[in-house]
Amino acid sequence: MENNTILSLPRIGEKAPAFKAVTTQGEINFPEQYSGNWVILFSHPADFTPVCTSEFMTFASMEEQFEKANCKLVGLSVDGLYSHIAWLRTIKEKIEYKGMKNIEVKFPLIEDITMEVAKKYGMIQPGESNTKAVRAVFIIDPKGIVRAMIYYPLSLGRNFDELYRALIALKTSDEFGVATPADWRPGDDVIISPAGSCAAAKNRMDGKESGLECKDWFFCTKKIAKEEVLKKVIKQ
Ligand code: BEZ
Repeated sequence: MENNTILSLPRIGEKAPAFKAVTTQGEINFPEQYSGNWVILFSHPADFTPVCTSEFMTFASMEEQFEKANCKLVGLSVDGLYSHIAWLRTIKEKIEYKGMKNIEVKFPLIEDITMEVAKKYGMIQPGESNTKAVRAVFIIDPKGIVRAMIYYPLSLGRNFDELYRALIALKTSDEFGVATPADWRPGDDVIISPAGSCAAAKNRMDGKESGLECKDWFFCTKKIAKEEVLKKVIKQ
């Protein structure tokens, strides 16, 4: 393994690295076949491990929620296809966890025994493991552009509510041309872009632009009703 391959990382704002792969749902051509959809590509360290099992059950139980936000899920580990199939069958038939049971993982899970995809996406981080992917998450938009990346170590299970929150926040930014502040959720005030001139900033500070609330010249918010956000970003 060459170091520069291991260390290659996608970048926010650039095209998601392309690949073809075998999955539990047949072959995929990524990200091309997801054009027009948001997609979350995520890796897990290994099949038949407890943290990963808790994550898959949680994510699979939220799949419909992501689907309504026009977002597909795609998993990956460096295990082979038959391991994936056996693990997902075990989850469905045997595992009960936090009130979830009989959970069927319907989204594709990529086999990546050569680590080709994992290396392209910076999922192999040798300080953590040479043989397992870390818990990586890429939120990719309908044009195939990487919009957010999150990396967690092997021991730390992810927060899937946060992934959903991040997806909805990105969609809201795109739809309304705004930014979203810390811990934003639909219905909370959003942040508008800085004024284009000193005069415009002064107008804002003087309350002359209606609908805005300015904490200072560089920090102005406005309200967007929760229903208005949800109408735009979730299939009704
Ligand atoms: C787990 O999913 O439980 C796990 C996987 C790899 C290393 C440590 C934990």
